[in-house]
Amino acid sequence: MKKIVITIDGWSSCGKSTLAKQMAKELGYVYIDSGAMYRAITLYFLRHHTDWSDTAEVNEALKNTVLEFHHNEKSAQSEIFLNGENVEYLIRDLVIAEKVSEVAAIKEVRCFAVAEQQKMGKKKGIVMDGRDIGTTVFPNAALKIFMTADIAVRVERRFKEMYEKNPNITIEEVKNNLEMRDYIDSNRTVSPLRKADDAVIIDNTNITMEQQLVYALNLLKQIKA
Ligand code: DC
Repeated sequence: MKKIVITIDGWSSCGKSTLAKQMAKELGYVYIDSGAMYRAITLYFLRHHTDWSDTAEVNEALKNTVLEFHHNEKSAQSEIFLNGENVEYLIRDLVIAEKVSEVAAIKEVRCFAVAEQQKMGKKKGIVMDGRDIGTTVFPNAALKIFMTADIAVRVERRFKEMYEKNPNITIEEVKNNLEMRDYIDSNRTVSPLRKADDAVIIDNTNITMEQQLVYALNLLKQIKA
């Protein structure tokens, strides 16, 4: 069967990566977490005290940023490396989540990340999740999904995930962060988060992970028919 590009966009914490991983596994495709790239760039900027209001500093920092994904056999996941260091775990911290939307709104950062993402999709056979994948990165993708879920459900899911790593975190912190990121991500000037006209909406507030996979695989059958 001919390999295609599948894009999954949507709000923060509405299960995009879960569905993307499920689909990639089922289809033998590569899964790319584009948000991890923005998070890793944010980590680099914070570590190097990059003043991201200064375009020259941003460009200089991006020149020194090499991002790669490597498959981890043990966890059966692809993990992000920043200049050779595995930062998959570090970039999930709230410190990064608090700044990432600001960094991801910078034009130069987006140009850099989008160019890398488009290279990864050249061979097709890829599922990429993010905010602008169906609109900007792969506007001609064969299957585009836009995910959504109720804010209360999203907060609950993200809180459980973050609480395992950091029991000091509060539900308010998680809720404020999700709302703040959704606001910045959908109101920025350069490729804001929005549904592509030809994307199919999946609202997973009341459906299980198994049901969402069945639904998405059916969409695939329809486009192949
Ligand atoms: O998917 P995530 O929550 O890990 O993404 C982190 C941030 O990165 C998100 O708040 C917005 C930004 N992002 C983006 O602007 N464009 C993408 N394609 C993916 C993520």
